[in-house]
Amino acid sequence: MSASNRINVQIFPDLAGISRKASEIFLNLSEHYISLADRFTIALSGGRTPFRLYSLLGSDYFLNILNWNRIHFFWADERCVPANDHKSNFRLAFETFLSRSPVPEKNIHRIKGEEEPEKAASDYATEIRDFFGGPHLPVFDCVILGMGEDGHIASIFPDSELLADTLRLAAPVHMIKPETDRISLTLPVLNNAAHLLLLVSGKSKARVLKSVFEKRIRKVNPPAGFLKPLHGDITWLIDKEAAQGLSDEWSEFHYNRLRISLQDKLKQ
Ligand code: 6PG
Repeated sequence: MSASNRINVQIFPDLAGISRKASEIFLNLSEHYISLADRFTIALSGGRTPFRLYSLLGSDYFLNILNWNRIHFFWADERCVPANDHKSNFRLAFETFLSRSPVPEKNIHRIKGEEEPEKAASDYATEIRDFFGGPHLPVFDCVILGMGEDGHIASIFPDSELLADTLRLAAPVHMIKPETDRISLTLPVLNNAAHLLLLVSGKSKARVLKSVFEKRIRKVNPPAGFLKPLHGDITWLIDKEAAQGLSDEWSEFHYNRLRISLQDKLKQ
């Protein structure tokens, strides 16, 4: 289960399959890292895609089997709203499973969306540094990401200055009204994770997913294309609708695991 610098791609009939697999991976990784380091650190995303996964984590099976005292929850991004706002990524996780679990409050590292964005981002980066210890990049055991129709991940959008940010751990993202501003982890943090877990569902993601996977046809590089784990691995859990644009090279591995080491992939 330790990180292997590989790309894993699994294609499922539907979002339910993605969510079940993601919950299995969550359990396996938590057991692995808790046995290794007595803790499991994970950063969550918002949006619709992870809702079913979070609901599974709030089910009796996972409430009973997960070692909640040793799991630390962070967020890949957050909207600049109070914690009880319906747009809050914290609220999504809290209402679907955290509030039902025995996770200690000290293990919940919420981004303070109610604060002024620059301060919230700076405070979050300080909390991450204090938790992981020292000035170097943190290594999250797992980061769960969705992908927008424009290929954004966390709150890193196309043409964002964050695509070139190599200094900050977390940054404010100023959005055009009526969108709310956001706070996001930066690419160096995401690419330093041991396991990146991408959940992609629905035909509206098919076009951008094709441009992420099939570099040779890519004119623009969507943010998801910037996910290149330095030492960790990246697992794409994709449903049939989102995978419909992928070439046969991928489609023959429907419902199976396709392991390509990053080195082999980069050689192609
Ligand atoms: C957020 C997420 C964002 C999300 C994508 C996909 O705060 O909304 O972190 O990056 O993962 O927008 O959203 P859906 O899962 O709703 O398609």
